[in-house]
Amino acid sequence: MSFQQDKIQELVERRATAKLGGGQARIDAQHQKGKLTARERLEKLLDPGSFEEFDMFVQHRCTNFGMDASHPDGDGVVTGQGTIDGRLVFVFAQDFTVNGGSLSKTMSEKICKVMDMAVRVGAPVIGLNDSGGARIQEGIDALAGYGEIFERNILASGVVPQISGIFGPCAGGAVYSPALTDFTLMVQNTSYMFLTGPAVVKSVTGEDVDQESLGGAAVHAAKSGVAHFSAASEEEGIANIKKLLSYLPQNNLSTAPERPTQDPVGRVDDALNDIVPDNPNKAYDMYGVIRSIVDDGDFFEVHKDFAKNIIVGFAHMGGRSVGIVANQPGVLAGVLDINASRKGARFVRFCDAFNIPLVTLVDVPGFLPGTQQEYGAIITNGAKLLFAYGEATVPKVTVTLRKSYGGAHIVMSCKQLRGDVNYAWPTANIAVMGAEGAVGILYGKELKAETDPAKQAEIAEARKQEYNDLFCNPYQAAQKGYIEDVIEPRNTRFRVIRALATLEGKRQEIPAKKHDNLPL
Ligand code: HXC
Repeated sequence: MSFQQDKIQELVERRATAKLGGGQARIDAQHQKGKLTARERLEKLLDPGSFEEFDMFVQHRCTNFGMDASHPDGDGVVTGQGTIDGRLVFVFAQDFTVNGGSLSKTMSEKICKVMDMAVRVGAPVIGLNDSGGARIQEGIDALAGYGEIFERNILASGVVPQISGIFGPCAGGAVYSPALTDFTLMVQNTSYMFLTGPAVVKSVTGEDVDQESLGGAAVHAAKSGVAHFSAASEEEGIANIKKLLSYLPQNNLSTAPERPTQDPVGRVDDALNDIVPDNPNKAYDMYGVIRSIVDDGDFFEVHKDFAKNIIVGFAHMGGRSVGIVANQPGVLAGVLDINASRKGARFVRFCDAFNIPLVTLVDVPGFLPGTQQEYGAIITNGAKLLFAYGEATVPKVTVTLRKSYGGAHIVMSCKQLRGDVNYAWPTANIAVMGAEGAVGILYGKELKAETDPAKQAEIAEARKQEYNDLFCNPYQAAQKGYIEDVIEPRNTRFRVIRALATLEGKRQEIPAKKHDNLPL
């Protein structure tokens, strides 16, 4: 073998060793847990042959606690660039087979390098996390490493999309970094998110809890809302990340790719003319409405299991990516509460940051009253959604299907919050409140004064009728120009797409400021 061939052979061997991470035994252990390795995940995520790895030979510099005895190449994270559906992305995937994927200072330098590149060239960052958090043996150096990553997460926020996959037990900094990104996806039964694991919880608080109940996918997708997506397997999770990316632009200065469709823009759906029940207290299928108006009935839901009284997600309309926000009359009558407001606000702000127009479907009876909500700061949390809509400068098209009462009417992308095109179905009620509540307040004394219950009911009914005739329709709002038009439900797809086309060149500014002070 020539000198040069020797050197090439050495490179080939070094690469092969580096690719083994923590070694075959640990790779086998990872597989036995039903988990893929960092490299296998990247292989499934990226277009074949597109991955270019950086820093494969980086090693840690720690000498504490016997760490100098072993220096695995790559130091527990695989980083680099690749493409997904031909679009450039930067990636990092933590390797649990090396010190439990824990974060060393050098690992942070590798992650920061891809994040810096992503911001410099304007491409999304996808992080696949599988890490026990700060590497304990490195002490303050590991914490400094997380500080570096967090700062970059913050500076990249609103500049390039950041997506976090949680693919194993993630603790400490390994969950705070995802929390700073735009979307977090968890895998059921093999991934966990917590500040500290069950052992530390036990030693500090004495509480006995397993990983699943402390921070499993079900907990974060349904209860805390920390996770936007929960997948049944790693493969499904990776497919969802790719799908999510297809709705997003590369950065805040570009728009999402168009998706050509055979679904006619002018398609009408007669079923929508019959979907709203006669009884205002009866629910109907808001998902059916969404699927009816978007391209090919394809709706990609975000936060599916959390705060189900509001629905948010992505779709295409006339080939363009849109963010859909819809009250869900089938859950808590579509009322806005703390979690629904937080969920909606975060989604609206994401869409606004990344030039994705908002289509809002309204059927909301108001905010949820009561001590639980007041003590939990529904005022501040509801204000988040109000703030998000009022601040958003992307095209905003709103359709009121049925109820739109009081503060919730204003919050849900009304005209005065710079809604661009606001439509209502003939079944819309745009008012301060429903007839029942209004009559109780306006005519309470008169009703109490009537001692005959039958007569009292008769008066209440007549007053309700009067109120309904005056307010429980869209025409008061239409007469005052608060909505542009009352539309036939079956034409909703066509009307919304036409409005979006009109608004494509929309330019709107907010006053110059350092940043806003969103009610947190
Ligand atoms: C160094 C770590 C580590 C860590 C795990 N390992 N976490 N090494 N630093 N933080 C090592 C283990 O010693 C073990 O090495 C290997 O990784 C696999 O870990 P196991 O415990 O065997 O795996 P498992 O039973 O699956 O449990 C995974 C785990 C648990 C739940 C993540 O390891 C755990 O609780 N780790 C500590 C989590 C934590 O409290 N981190 C907080 C760090 S503070 P061997 O060689 O035996 O295989 C932090 C602050 C950042 O991150 C700032 C936040 C704002």
